[in-house]
Parts: sequence; structure tokens; C-alpha cells
Amino acid sequence: MGQPIIQTENLKAYYITQAYGVERTVQAVDDISISINAGEVYGIAGESGCGKSTLLKVLLGSYEPPLTVVDGSVTYHLDDQTIDAVNLTPEEKRSLRWKDISYIPQGSMHVLNPVRKIRDTFHDFISAHRNVTRKESMKMTSSYLRDLGLPDKVMGSYPHQLSGGMRQRVTIALATILWPKLIFADEPTTALDVIVQRGVIQMLKEVQQREGSTLILITHDIGVHANLADRIAVLYAGKLVEEAPTRTIINEPKHPYTKFLIESLPSLDGREERSSIPGRPPALDHPPSGCRFHERCPLAKDICLTIDPEMISVGPNHRTACHVVAEELSHEPAI
Ligand SMILES: Nc1ncnc2c1ncn2[C@@H]1O[C@H](COP(=O)(O)OP(=O)(O)OP(=O)(O)O)[C@@H](O)[C@H]1O
Ligand code: SF4
Ligand SMILES: [Mg+2]
Repeated sequence: MGQPIIQTENLKAYYITQAYGVERTVQAVDDISISINAGEVYGIAGESGCGKSTLLKVLLGSYEPPLTVVDGSVTYHLDDQTIDAVNLTPEEKRSLRWKDISYIPQGSMHVLNPVRKIRDTFHDFISAHRNVTRKESMKMTSSYLRDLGLPDKVMGSYPHQLSGGMRQRVTIALATILWPKLIFADEPTTALDVIVQRGVIQMLKEVQQREGSTLILITHDIGVHANLADRIAVLYAGKLVEEAPTRTIINEPKHPYTKFLIESLPSLDGREERSSIPGRPPALDHPPSGCRFHERCPLAKDICLTIDPEMISVGPNHRTACHVVAEELSHEPAI
């Protein structure tokens, strides 16, 4: 695995709104420190509303009020340069976007221009970033689509003439045709049926492996992470609660919330019932004190109600934030 390509330190990003003179602060990303390596697939998991898309927007440097970075940093390490991604100028954002960084947004099946044929959308996009003739951009597009196994007739189609799965593949092809170093994908397989999902996952894998790009993949579907990600970060209510290599998260989850997530995966033979997580995630304008998971946690103790657990190391490349795990660890005999 390569060197760090993107890092956050104690990142806090809140939605700060005013209504009738009353300020409301939604603590959507709260004190998150992560380091993503060049060439890895880094998965970000967690229930709806836990802050996945918000974190991605800040990592991308693509956010505006009411979302505000109130503390911490985001740093890119690109071509021997260290770039402060929180304070990018619009010019810097433009030059980084698509050349170095591409983004497949949540609900991206709707990003294709409905009144342009696919080939025209590709030409518009490529010619906005590269000095190419139409003939050259068409050649690039058809060879790339062919490499990715998309049929030629896609080029002459309008988006509405394509199935949902095909539109999503075209969107991924569009976002990656200029070989960005960092690819951010927000729920790229949601709303697709399982068979189509598999094709899209395969395509993302192929795209990432060809150039050794870094893929930052967001999905609430831990099964998709299990298929694609090298490492998984689990968010709960705006907090990072666990991070480890995928196999470790699946086989040895430590945090009670991660355990629920893993138990909710269907078993391989499909016979077991999925168990769902009891209760609902908290509202992030008034998050619970202490550990944000305490209201739903079967192991919660007094300390969990008042003190926010710190991230601790629990194994190679494995971190979690839980008082009970920390206590168990402190009782383990030293080797
Ligand atoms: N523009 C906004 N103003 C205020 N609060 C917001 C805004 N956008 C999102 N939020 C809140 O921020 C929190 C995190 O939202 P976010 O969209 O990042 O979650 P998510 O994990 O991506 O959810 P999903 O899986 O549903 O896409 C949620 O509580 C959400 O209600
Ligand atoms: S810190 Fe306490 S409430 Fe939070 S996950 Fe651990 S045991 Fe549960
Ligand atoms: Mg989201």
C-alpha cells in the first residue's frame, strides 16, 4: 500500500443555520482523523444520516454554507505537494477537480444531461479539461467504453434510453476517463438491483486497479464494502467509531455498533434472518452526551453517558472508540 494521499486531523464540519434568530448546529462530522493511502479502496460505512456524504464533501473540498469546517484539517499529498484542502481557492479547486480528483455523487444517475447524447456529454467534458479535437475525444470515449465492456450503441443514446445500471456505468466512465488519482464515489450502487450492483462493483474495481487510483467509497451497504474495500471506516452519528482492514472488520469487529452492522449482513447461504439494529440514530443538532451510541448500546455503562470514548489501537491497523473495549484491553495480560 502506498503513502498517505489524503489525511484529516480532528476534522469537525457542522451545518450552521439561522432561523428566526435561533442558531442550529448539526454536528455532522465530529473530530474525525483518518489517513487514506495512495492506491487503496477506503470504504466509509454507517447508517443513513451518520455523516458519510458530509465527510466526503469536505474531503473533496466541495462544500458551502451552511456546511462549515469549524476545526481540524484536510490535507492532500499529490505529486510531492502538500495541499491544504480546507482553504482551496476556486482556481485551485478547478485545477484539481477531474485531473486529480473525480466525484461520483450520490444519486449520480441523474447527473447526465438529459438532452445531450452520451457522446456529446463526453466530448463536452473532455474538451473542458483537455485540448482535444472532437475526433480525438470520440476516439478516447469509444475506446474507454469498449475497454470497460460498455456497448458501442451507448455513445449515440440519450440517458433516458439507458437502463439505470447502464446510466450508472456511463457516469462512472465519465468521472474516470481522465484517470484521476483520487476517485470519490457516494453510494454508487444504491437503487440498483443486486445483479446490476455486481456489474457496477466489478467496473469500479477494474477502473481503480487499472491506474492504481485511490477509491474512497461510501455506502451504507456493508456487503458492497466487503466486496470492494481494502479498509473500512465505520461512522456513527458523525463520529468515527472503528477502522480496520476489511477482513478484520468483518471477522473481528470490536465496536458494538460495528457488530450490529456485521450481524445485519445476510449469511452466505442466505438462510439466516437479517437482524436490524434496535432504535434509531440520534439527531445531530442535539447529539447524546458521552458516547453517541449509548442510547442503543446493550453494553452501555455509566461512563458511556458522560465521557466520549477516545480512539484506541486494538490491533494491527485496527482502531476503535469504546470504553468497554478499552477496559477489556487493559485487563488482557501483557505478553
Ligand atoms: N444542508 C443541511 N443542513 C442541515 N443539516 C444537514 C444538511 N445536510 C445534511 N444535514 C444533516 O447532516 C447529517 C449527516 O448527513 P449526511 O447526508 O452526511 O449523511 P449520510 O450518512 O450521507 O446519509 P445517507 O446514507 O442518507 O446518504 C444528517 O443529520 C443530516 O440531516
Ligand atoms: S462506549 Fe459504551 S455506549 Fe459506546 S459503544 Fe462502547 S460500551 Fe457502548
Ligand atoms: Mg449520503
